[in-house]
Amino acid sequence: MKITIIGTGYVGLVTGACLAELGNDVFCLDVDQRKIDILNSGGIPIHEPGLEEIVARNRAAGRIQFSTDVAASVAHGEVQFIAVGTPPDEDGSADLQYVLAAARNIGKYMNGFKVVVDKSTVPVGTADRVAAALRDELSQRASQAEFSVVSNPEFLKEGAAVEDFMRPDRIVIGCDSSAQGEKARSMMKKLYAPFNRNHERTYWMDVRSAEFTKYAANAMLATRISFMNELANLADHVGADIEAVRHGIGSDPRIGHSFLYAGCGYGGSCFPKDVQALERTAQEYGLNLLILQAVEAVNARQKQVLGSKIQARFDNQLVGKHFAIWGLAFKPNTDDMRAASSRVLIGELLRNGATVAVYDPVSMEEAKRVFELDFYDAPELLNNIRYASNPMEALDAADALAIVTEWKAFRSPDFDQVKARLKQAVIFDGRNLFEPAVMNELQIEYHGIGRSV
Ligand code: NAD
Ligand code: UGA
Repeated sequence: MKITIIGTGYVGLVTGACLAELGNDVFCLDVDQRKIDILNSGGIPIHEPGLEEIVARNRAAGRIQFSTDVAASVAHGEVQFIAVGTPPDEDGSADLQYVLAAARNIGKYMNGFKVVVDKSTVPVGTADRVAAALRDELSQRASQAEFSVVSNPEFLKEGAAVEDFMRPDRIVIGCDSSAQGEKARSMMKKLYAPFNRNHERTYWMDVRSAEFTKYAANAMLATRISFMNELANLADHVGADIEAVRHGIGSDPRIGHSFLYAGCGYGGSCFPKDVQALERTAQEYGLNLLILQAVEAVNARQKQVLGSKIQARFDNQLVGKHFAIWGLAFKPNTDDMRAASSRVLIGELLRNGATVAVYDPVSMEEAKRVFELDFYDAPELLNNIRYASNPMEALDAADALAIVTEWKAFRSPDFDQVKARLKQAVIFDGRNLFEPAVMNELQIEYHGIGRSV
């Protein structure tokens, strides 16, 4: 099928590349000339395992193209996916300006029937606003062209995006019951048929329920994490081990094992903004979602947990202290530092007079960009960040090591070397990578999250 993807970011590029891999003829549009240039010169603008190979293969086969040409993009696809960003507005609601601009562009140039798919995460009711924008553009040039707006939210995770897209747990598609909606449904069915071969993975529903499902999923996952973090903080006080508790409750199939890891808070471009946006939607209807307010508050506090533990351990005297930081990305296998817990910790340490040596397998360049923003008000603090060339080198003469991201490369370090390089053998582990008993044997002072057994 001929597919257009509007917005060639994480979701757009993965969707475009994977649909091309399945044999579709894909046109990826972006307004960002830099991204399009990188893609046209054979690179990819993000770090995502497996993606570069798929993009290269399909580019070579002529199944995927990248462009900033809006008219050509609209002419190309019978299905037009909108995969642009929906960042938080000042009040926390989803800013729909990019989605609506994309819709207007389709309306400006379309001549025949188009299926317009909202793949971006958008609040309930957005499909109606997209349809209104399309109608408005069509009426301005007295066009009779028809369309149907479909909701097809995306559930991929960064770092496992290709795998998640290619082997989805579920495909959620919301269509309306008009004649155009039925036509859209059969086109979406054809497009997703390769994913449903062994068993049906598509959940068909009305448009609003599909839009809601996306927020409900992210809010549920964020809630599990904040709930475990809250329990971990209590475990620290009562002398229980949250890791044992995690196994104990996760073995109940009604609870399940995933997304029960306590740590130094959730980050990324999605959970923080989607929890907020769902709260805002509720407020528009006069409702307060108390659980979600708590989920957010717990997470904000949890991002400070490493800083608080370090402050307490060093009697609030951080001036002149030096810390090694392993992990800057909001999670492993990505260079994404949006809302990363590392930024909160490093802010706390530097603003209280400490210096840091940081190491992350892929986020070092992104870190330099991000820290310039974080310390715009105190640029002299940037001199107190040293960028280490490997994890061990980051440890040299540090008063302690703090682990913020659970990269595989940090899981089994040579502890003799760790001890030899640190000024004192103290580890603050924001992702519970090590066993307290083993650390004890190694005579390493170990501070995990909820592991004060
Ligand atoms: P992103 O910022 O990586 O990419 C968005 C792209 O859209 C950018 O390259 C931007 O230049 C482009 N763009 C903006 N306006 C445009 C326009 N009018 N025409 C063409 N291109 C335009 O964003 P993302 O992470 O891919 O997220 C996109 C949406 O998908 C968001 O709603 C997000 O919540 C949702 N989502 C993201 C993930 C994820 O893991 N990143 C997963 C599921 C859902
Ligand atoms: C999340 C969802 O997992 C995806 O299904 C969804 O499509 C995506 O948001 C989105 O809507 O954009 P992502 O943000 O890429 O994906 O990353 P996750 O793996 O969910 O991790 C998010 C954060 O939660 C990370 O900071 C991670 O460290 C933290 N986390 C995760 C925990 O603290 N504990 C856990 O048990 C799991």
